[in-house]
Amino acid sequence: MKNISLRKATINDKALVVDFDYNLDAVEHIELKREEKITKAIANEECFIILADNSAVGFAVFDYRFFDQGWIELIVIEEKYRGKGIGVQAIELICKQCKANKVFTSTNSSNTPMQKALTKAGFSFAGKIDGLDDGDPELFYYKKADSKKTKN
Ligand SMILES: CC(C)(COP(=O)(O)OP(=O)(O)OC[C@H]1O[C@@H](n2cnc3c(N)ncnc32)[C@H](O)[C@@H]1OP(=O)(O)O)[C@@H](O)C(=O)NCCC(=O)NCCS
Repeated sequence: MKNISLRKATINDKALVVDFDYNLDAVEHIELKREEKITKAIANEECFIILADNSAVGFAVFDYRFFDQGWIELIVIEEKYRGKGIGVQAIELICKQCKANKVFTSTNSSNTPMQKALTKAGFSFAGKIDGLDDGDPELFYYKKADSKKTKN
């Protein structure tokens, strides 16, 4: 298995991250002004490059905007590297660097790879919210970031 690591993205990584995001969904990338969001995430040190044997294979955006808990806003693995366990390891690394007690995230009900990855990374189901994407509820998950720091 490849050696998976994370590093904080810098402004020099912007084109790479924009490319990953554009390739994921070009329409959403443009309509949701994702380039602007990526630029802000990099400036706020909330964007991480996911490396496999030191090659960039994806990125994650992680912050503390969800009730002051860790929040994985987005994680993307480049298509050709999916299904190889990289996503699970990257999620585990994100949890390790989290400074809050818990890490939360959400994904669409239709996104079974993400649900599988979260379950494998030790996340529990937290609840479902209807009404965001029509006919595709948002499923929330959480994990205690570090048992030593966590009281509940
Ligand atoms: C969700 C995502 C981050 C998971 O990363 P990953 O490296 O592919 O996941 P892993 O290999 O660690 O394992 C996750 C599960 O998804 C399955 N999976 C992921 N991609 C797959 C693919 N292209 N084909 C088949 N199975 C796939 C894996 O088989 C695995 O489940 P299993 O081992 O129980 O069968 C990745 O698929 C991705 O980038 N998807 C597009 C963006 C996205 O939806 N992000 C999440 C919402 S923010």
